[in-house]
Amino acid sequence: MKAHVIVHRDFRIADIDDRLYSSFLEHLGRAIYGGIYEPGHPTADENGFRKDVMELVRELNSPYCRYPGGNFVSAYNWEDGVGPRSERPVRLDLAWRTRESNQIGVNEFVDWCKKANTKPMLAVNLGSRGLDAARNFLEYCNHPGGTYWSDLRRKHGWADPHGVKLWCLGNEMDGPWQVGHKSAYEYGRLADETAKAMRGFDKSLELVVCGSSNSDMKTYPDWEAEVLDQCYDSADHISLHMYFANREKNTLNYLAKAEKLDRYIVTIGGVIDYIKAKKRSKKTIGISFDEWNVWYHSNQQDKEILARDEWPDAPHLLEDVYNFEDVLQVGGILNTFIRRSDRVRIACIAQLVNVIAPIMTEDGGPAWRQTIYYPLYFASKYGRGSALRLVTDGPTYDSDEADDVPYLDISAVHDELGKMVTLFAVNRHPDSSLDLDTRLEGFAGARVVEQHDMVHSDLRAVNTAAQPNAVVPTMTGDAKIEDGRLRATLKPLSYTVIRLAV
Ligand code: AHR
Repeated sequence: MKAHVIVHRDFRIADIDDRLYSSFLEHLGRAIYGGIYEPGHPTADENGFRKDVMELVRELNSPYCRYPGGNFVSAYNWEDGVGPRSERPVRLDLAWRTRESNQIGVNEFVDWCKKANTKPMLAVNLGSRGLDAARNFLEYCNHPGGTYWSDLRRKHGWADPHGVKLWCLGNEMDGPWQVGHKSAYEYGRLADETAKAMRGFDKSLELVVCGSSNSDMKTYPDWEAEVLDQCYDSADHISLHMYFANREKNTLNYLAKAEKLDRYIVTIGGVIDYIKAKKRSKKTIGISFDEWNVWYHSNQQDKEILARDEWPDAPHLLEDVYNFEDVLQVGGILNTFIRRSDRVRIACIAQLVNVIAPIMTEDGGPAWRQTIYYPLYFASKYGRGSALRLVTDGPTYDSDEADDVPYLDISAVHDELGKMVTLFAVNRHPDSSLDLDTRLEGFAGARVVEQHDMVHSDLRAVNTAAQPNAVVPTMTGDAKIEDGRLRATLKPLSYTVIRLAV
């Protein structure tokens, strides 16, 4: 089978915002305790942070890390996580039915971010709390000193302000499961007032308001329209979330879900434009896709853990073990974000360590890369610059999710220096290779520099502590330039990265 693509130097979608490759850490399961923080671990540094985990996070070069939740944030008192550790209260976390020791809080998280080469994107609690706690939290974090909250931070040992610029106003407030769930109107009003107060402190903050938890929510997409109607002028981004599952073990349907993601972004783009017109505004709100990933492998195990009703500390919750098939899904999701980078300015893989995450650890043991680590790594490394608008023509299939789904899922990025073009491709076909024939326009003299491929005979193959390299990229591809065209064979069910010097 053949697929034709045209790449033109001047046909650009947008400058990709580097924040597309951000991440998320929640006080949930072993993300924090046993994930980034494990005093007593052989690799722990002087602050108890695991250096083996930090190394893997640094390699991902994740611009921002969202914290502390997630559902957790909607009943969280940020004050519990600051001050002398021995005096911090142990609380019940109502979202995940867990005990929270509060041994890590905002100050330690900011320290960890610096070491892990990322920046904090903080969420305020608009579930059980509201504007007042949010403005105090902001002042505690960002004011230099001489006021009650800033001097408290200084007393706690952090003399310099944290300078956090990116803030989420609540989490999934459309979800009935959320502590303090609200109607779109109630939330929109609260978000607007909270944003006003936070901007009273610092006009330059970037504020993210809650969109839908997923595009199957009954309130979608009215939720976005109502929320933005209330707070269009005071917000900068609207957040969307989506998780992917393959419970029916149908690979083609599963991989077609990237089309649903695409529709979701396009629809909310339309809602943004509608409210923008209604408000006669010059500003275009961006999309912050601040939770996305595959999530279903651990569902049964989680049910059993939660059914015990024990309020454990840092249990093994949401520990999805990803397989090779998930590499193809994550590759397709990242391609969608690149192709929609005119709308999506921020995206956070959910999450980063242990909890539905590309990095896994054993308590007291090793840390390793899950299969999905690799497409994220490649996109973060080579997916910065301008997204190019491709013209594609190739075979398609019909699925439960959508019709005419192309077997070839592809995106292309022209790097910031204008010297490299990287193509990210997924061949969704279960048993046929795709002969990729790409016409390169405006890239005379292009040559193939490298090709990374991920293919595996077993879709269910996984990486584990014992076998951390069962699913890894190889460099065995056949990409070449012939008569100004890039040709390559994309194996059935494969993920490929081709880099061209241009
Ligand atoms: O990432 C896991 C959970 O998924 C988050 O806490 C919540 O925001 C979403 O429902």
